[in-house]
Amino acid sequence: MVTFYRFRRCRLTSRAAAVHNRPNSLHDYVLRYRTGILDEWKRYPQATATCHIELQTMIDQRKLLLDAAERAIQYCNGLPDRRVAPLPRHIARIGELERPIPDDPCAPEEALALLDEIGSPASMAMAGPRFFGFVIGGALPATLAANWLATAWDQATGLHHITPMTAKLEQVSLRWLLDILGLPADCGGGFVTGATMASFSGLAAARYAVLKQAGWDADSDGLFGAPPINVYVSDEAHPAVTKSLGLLGLGRNRLQRLATDGQGRINTACLPSVTAPAIVCAQVGNVNTGSMDPVGEICERVKHKGIWVHVDGAFGLWAAASPELRPLISGVEQADSWATDGHKWLNVPYDCGISFVRDHEALRQVMTVSAAYLPPSDERDPSHYTPELSRRPRAVEVWAALRSLGRSGVADLIERCCAHARHFASGLENAGFEVLNDVVLNQVLVSFGDAKKTNRVIARVQQEGTCWVGGTLWQGHTAMRISVSNWATTNDDVERSLNAMIRAATTEKLPGCTGL
Ligand SMILES: Cc1ncc(COP(=O)(O)O)c(C=O)c1O
Repeated sequence: MVTFYRFRRCRLTSRAAAVHNRPNSLHDYVLRYRTGILDEWKRYPQATATCHIELQTMIDQRKLLLDAAERAIQYCNGLPDRRVAPLPRHIARIGELERPIPDDPCAPEEALALLDEIGSPASMAMAGPRFFGFVIGGALPATLAANWLATAWDQATGLHHITPMTAKLEQVSLRWLLDILGLPADCGGGFVTGATMASFSGLAAARYAVLKQAGWDADSDGLFGAPPINVYVSDEAHPAVTKSLGLLGLGRNRLQRLATDGQGRINTACLPSVTAPAIVCAQVGNVNTGSMDPVGEICERVKHKGIWVHVDGAFGLWAAASPELRPLISGVEQADSWATDGHKWLNVPYDCGISFVRDHEALRQVMTVSAAYLPPSDERDPSHYTPELSRRPRAVEVWAALRSLGRSGVADLIERCCAHARHFASGLENAGFEVLNDVVLNQVLVSFGDAKKTNRVIARVQQEGTCWVGGTLWQGHTAMRISVSNWATTNDDVERSLNAMIRAATTEKLPGCTGL
């Protein structure tokens, strides 16, 4: 057992210590801690207040981390069998975490136990195999383990000079990602919080590059007085893209909208003639239907000098990693920038998004950061490619996912999720319900009748707890959204969830819900 502590004397006088029979030195404290009389000592708040720094350093770190690992393992092991949404009585206990800031320290084990005892049952089982809401991946075992190790490393991955190992992992991961996604090998890229910031990054580079072509340096001179940029987004663009454009000063409301078809794809027959400077935003993976814009065709039609095509591929870009699905997005590699998520379909823990930019220098120009105290390097400095300077080394988990799955494992993960989505669609159709979209990827939209009935079914499914699905409005129809994005989902999970959905749609009274 390794115990970390410093032999610094606490500010307790020996007289006071003698009076109260309390420890008169840190060493004394440690001895008492080890012999299990910590609780007795805690009765002297004066002592705890003066010793709090020492307290943090004398913790038995090994025991604490093993305790955390045990608790996390128990949580993960429980995921396949637990109900997905937390029970109201577990949610009610969240309030116990909301206390005034304590004056005195407590043992870290105590803080951890509180988090686990209150937090774990009150969590939504998003990491589990039957959470089908939004587009949420789980965490592959290799990535969870890598995440723990990377957290222990605690590397602020901004500068190669300081953190060469995690900076190298970024470079390697980026190269592997470009390879597996079939994007140009010399793209620049950055590891950001999610697809929103990945689009932000790509579009920041786009803004700079198209204005540069027009003779304006937006990086130095900003947007006041700049030539206006024509920005196009589809009617079905994800709000992450419009938000990014808003943040970049391109205005959420001055965007020109492109018409879409019945699956939410840009209708290329309606493409206007685009004049530079311009940015055209396409997407692969509509958040409702999973459909893909015909990026290759769009690029052929609009790409000229000063016109940039950006692709939001938060989850849909992963189709490129599957030989079976790749034809769905053929031509996607012709774009100028791409945004995707690691935390969705690659199943790495939150938060992890990745931006790829063909014009490596444009990305570097807008993201570069320098100061006298930041040692430069001839190697790739991660902070020159992302909005953040200090951040965690997000590529560690990406590296672990790609290293452990390999090319075939990633393809299998993506294809398996799509097969489950088709299984859902056929099961619900066979039960007499209407599937509203062409199930081309991992997304299924189901109507159970009118809006009221469909919403009632969604609420029942969520409440019953076998699985979790959300709702949406798709081209005027209220629908249940099923998104299959988790590595751990099995055929049995799909069957159990199908049964729960069909039960919810065919029974008025909620079955088996005692304790809710
Ligand atoms: C198509 C699309 N773009 C962007 C996003 C936003 O991703 P993030 O939440 O990782 O920023 C999502 C999220 O579901 C999405 O589906």
